[in-house]
Amino acid sequence: MTNSTSPGSKKFLIKTFGCQMNVYDSERMSELLGNEGYTPTENADEADLVILNTCHIREKAAEKVYSEVGRLRQAANARRAQGGETLIAVAGCVAQAEGPEIMRRAPAVNMVFGPQTYHRLPEMLAKAREAQTRGQAARVLDTDFPAEAKFDQLPKKRGVNGPAAFVTAQEGCDKFCTFCVVPYTRGAEVSRPVAAIEDEVRALIDSGVVEITLLGQNVNAYHGVDAAGQDVTLAGLVRRLARIDGLKRIRYTTSHPRDMTDDLIAAHGEIEKLMPYLHLPVQAGSDRILAAMNRKHTAESYLKLIERLKAARPDLALSGDFIVGFPGETEEDFQATLDLVKAVRYAQAYSFKYSPRPGTPAADMEQQVPEDEKSDRLARLQALLNQHQLEFNQASVGKTVPVLFERQGKHPGQLVGRSPWMQAVHVLAPDHAIGDLVHCKLLSAGANSLEGGLADRLAAA
Ligand code: SAH
Ligand code: SF4
Ligand code: F3S
Repeated sequence: MTNSTSPGSKKFLIKTFGCQMNVYDSERMSELLGNEGYTPTENADEADLVILNTCHIREKAAEKVYSEVGRLRQAANARRAQGGETLIAVAGCVAQAEGPEIMRRAPAVNMVFGPQTYHRLPEMLAKAREAQTRGQAARVLDTDFPAEAKFDQLPKKRGVNGPAAFVTAQEGCDKFCTFCVVPYTRGAEVSRPVAAIEDEVRALIDSGVVEITLLGQNVNAYHGVDAAGQDVTLAGLVRRLARIDGLKRIRYTTSHPRDMTDDLIAAHGEIEKLMPYLHLPVQAGSDRILAAMNRKHTAESYLKLIERLKAARPDLALSGDFIVGFPGETEEDFQATLDLVKAVRYAQAYSFKYSPRPGTPAADMEQQVPEDEKSDRLARLQALLNQHQLEFNQASVGKTVPVLFERQGKHPGQLVGRSPWMQAVHVLAPDHAIGDLVHCKLLSAGANSLEGGLADRLAAA
């Protein structure tokens, strides 16, 4: 990124790890820093402020932060030798989970703050800078869950990176799956008011966005209030957003099977703008393991749910998350996961080895599964998931589908976009631009992407 900056202006760099909510938060922090007179840089060596927006979901996340801090400390020392000062900040879920420990272990870190405090960044920066000017070490820690909602306080303007944008609708989690840190790092479930989301979506559309993905750790648990103070569900929110002119596609992620309500299932059949692709993590296929995970659904109830979703929207494609090697998982339990995968045939999926997280109930369970067993199960699961993903893409070949172009391809005149089912489609389209939504015929498929051609050109040929 190049900037025409005044020589005095301060530069910042945000490095983002983890989920889409962190990506969204980093964008909002960038806008806030822009309003504070900071300009972005890609280069840590010239940054006055570096923020690591961290993830705590699996092991080694914290270790990664410390080694990243070590590298930044060297860059900061080199700058100091030339009269520059760099502030190093750790934000996100590692900050929330291990704030005081980071302060203790990493003296080079100047600021540690959790995901709910980003709107306080200007105050924290002022404090840190003030300490610096007094020649003291700047140390600021803020891991509160403040009563005021951060998004209400953050600047409203949204910079735009393309025709598809994330909008956080809900944050936090009340589910307490026994393996997961999110309820501790992100706090309780909170939903943004309908009007705030509508305003943001309208502003995004004005700046060229045509597709939005509503985000939340449990986005289908959304319960926001409208202007009249009435409760609005995710289905209600989607229905309202679908009425906004100029918005062409709506997606939402991530959903919990427990919150897949009748009105949301119905919305999939009724709202054309709601894309036929749903990320609905199941984690495992054995009811014994699902119970130990505190998932509160069974394999059968999950499969029934998918049946109902497909009855509403027959072309719905599914994506999911899986954990292998949860404590006590036997080969038989693992086979149940494979059976479930075979029954659903996911279009795409994420799968992980169980990683014990400090402070979560599963970390203290007996019968932890040995590492090599986890690796073996993960490889077998991924082979199956990849095969299904390839077959899903291959089955699309020959179809003509709308593709939203999101970026330039590697070849001249090539654009890359997404089908309604989230497939990446490469198309030679020299007369089109990023942001165009165009009918393309799918010509060939690999596991991760497809080749397509412009439908009107192919028809004319
Ligand atoms: N709220 C979402 C998931 C959030 S975390 C949901 O409930 O589905 C994203 C994924 O990370 C989870 O779906 C799970 O598959 C994985 N994950 C979470 N904790 C984990 C752990 N301790 N070890 C391995 N994978 C984990
Ligand atoms: Fe974690 Fe479970 Fe909450 Fe998802 S629903 S964020 S996996 S505790
Ligand atoms: Fe990671 Fe926090 Fe997201 S732990 S997955 S960044 S909610």
